[in-house]
Amino acid sequence: MSTPNDFFPTTRMRRMRSQNFSRRLMRENRLTTDDLICPLFVVEGQSVQQAVASMPGVSRLSIDRLLREAESLVKLGIPAVALFPVVDPGQKSLNAEEAYNPDGLAQRCTRALKSEFPDLGVITDVALDPFTTHGQDGLIDADGYVVNDATVDVLCKQALSHAEAGADIVAPSDMMDGRIGAIRNVLESQGHPNTRILAYSAKYASSFYGPFRDAVGSAGNLGGGNKYSYQMDPANSDEAIREIALDLQEGADMIMVKPGMPYLDIIRRAKDRFGVPTFAYQVSGEYAMLKAAAQNGWLDERQAVLESLLAFKRAGCDAILTYFAKPAAQWLQQT
Ligand code: PBG
Repeated sequence: MSTPNDFFPTTRMRRMRSQNFSRRLMRENRLTTDDLICPLFVVEGQSVQQAVASMPGVSRLSIDRLLREAESLVKLGIPAVALFPVVDPGQKSLNAEEAYNPDGLAQRCTRALKSEFPDLGVITDVALDPFTTHGQDGLIDADGYVVNDATVDVLCKQALSHAEAGADIVAPSDMMDGRIGAIRNVLESQGHPNTRILAYSAKYASSFYGPFRDAVGSAGNLGGGNKYSYQMDPANSDEAIREIALDLQEGADMIMVKPGMPYLDIIRRAKDRFGVPTFAYQVSGEYAMLKAAAQNGWLDERQAVLESLLAFKRAGCDAILTYFAKPAAQWLQQT
């Protein structure tokens, strides 16, 4: 058999795709349970499990429920969880003192998790927004401007209180200047040389955080405010590289790009440039989009979610914070 003009393609890209075995052999990237970090919202109380309306399938858990959830995550082989406390309005203040309360919610959750599941990595969020009456990630001056250096002092106290509670990784998500170096210095000088720092280096001022702010109740506090004076402009990419370089110089062990799917280009640039452990956060709005489409029958949830997570690996991610961590680990077990 020949074409009328005896033309044969020299290379047939479809040849390798023609059977499953050769597709498997040339597969470049793989998603495994080792890549997944599960974010968890925690609240005060006993036997509390409150659904988050804009994040179907995600709940706020009291400590007892958190421990049971952690147990199933450990059984699935998920390496780490990231804690996000939802504090009562009465515990919020202008200066976020509750952030470094040694018996605060995040600190108690950390202790409880580490004593029951010592091998599960616990990541705590270092930022003041759950604790401020105004919902900003730092302290504000009379004009409402988030002041940098005074905020860094509070972040250092918060990070130290997390380390003292046993956090394996502290994750500053506030975007203040100089906070990685300051936190590193406090951890070293206070006897926590092995507490890792996961720096949210490239965190964008994104509309994809909406459902998270509902979940932690900071949306109401923030009101019409925004975070443009510290989170990054979505238009920028070189600026992310500068942020990452600074955080690495200051002693970050891992860097984070956030949000995830709309910022895969940043992940790739960061990985190529620095070759350091690079994480991404598939944020609440990304979860909500995928979930809503799946619930409407517009997307196949399992396929779309696993594809989205694989895309992070292809972009150069080492690990992914995702609200799909548990279902993804379950799906991976079935394959
Ligand atoms: C702020 C913080 C944010 C998220 C986690 N911590 C963003 C913000 O409110 O500005 C968002 C995570 C998500 O959307 O899933 N420290």
